[in-house]
Amino acid sequence: MAPSLILLGFMGSGKTAVGQELAGRMGLGFRDADQLIEERSGMTVTEIFSNQGEAGFRRQEEATVLDLLDAAESAGGMVISLGGGAVTSERLRDRLNEEPRVVLLDSDLESAYHRSQDGSRPLARDFKQFSALFQERRSLYEKVARFRIDTRGKSVRQVADAVMHAIGERNEDI
Ligand code: S3P
Repeated sequence: MAPSLILLGFMGSGKTAVGQELAGRMGLGFRDADQLIEERSGMTVTEIFSNQGEAGFRRQEEATVLDLLDAAESAGGMVISLGGGAVTSERLRDRLNEEPRVVLLDSDLESAYHRSQDGSRPLARDFKQFSALFQERRSLYEKVARFRIDTRGKSVRQVADAVMHAIGERNEDI
């Protein structure tokens, strides 16, 4: 049974695209935590933020990610991408510290901001706020990540290659 592969990183670092690519290569199921939160609540992330505030979103995020990690363990391992702020929960950081394959996708501020402008991210509307969060989160990611991948200038496939190399995994189709 393979441990789950958990992708962390700031908004716009490519966690969802890279997670899907890796799940295909490793023959594992893929789950994106934000999508699951939206399915469970019947609301978009933006709607949750405007109806319940960030604190309401964080409560749902914590509960959903804890359930997801348990489900992944029962399923024999999955690839999971977490929302960029999941690490703000101490409970989640403690839980993630038990996982051996937690990978940080590290991006630069400008590309992260550029890639976060699809209108779905309430915390990516203002560059100054985005930039302050980017700095604040760095130490939290470093507290839980076992591996760090520099995504700058890399395609989704290249980032996935780097992750596979870091965790010492072979592609299933080789
Ligand atoms: C957030 C990141 C988002 C989403 C929400 C809050 C954050 O996920 O969970 O908008 O606080 O960094 P992505 O990292 O998938 O964009």
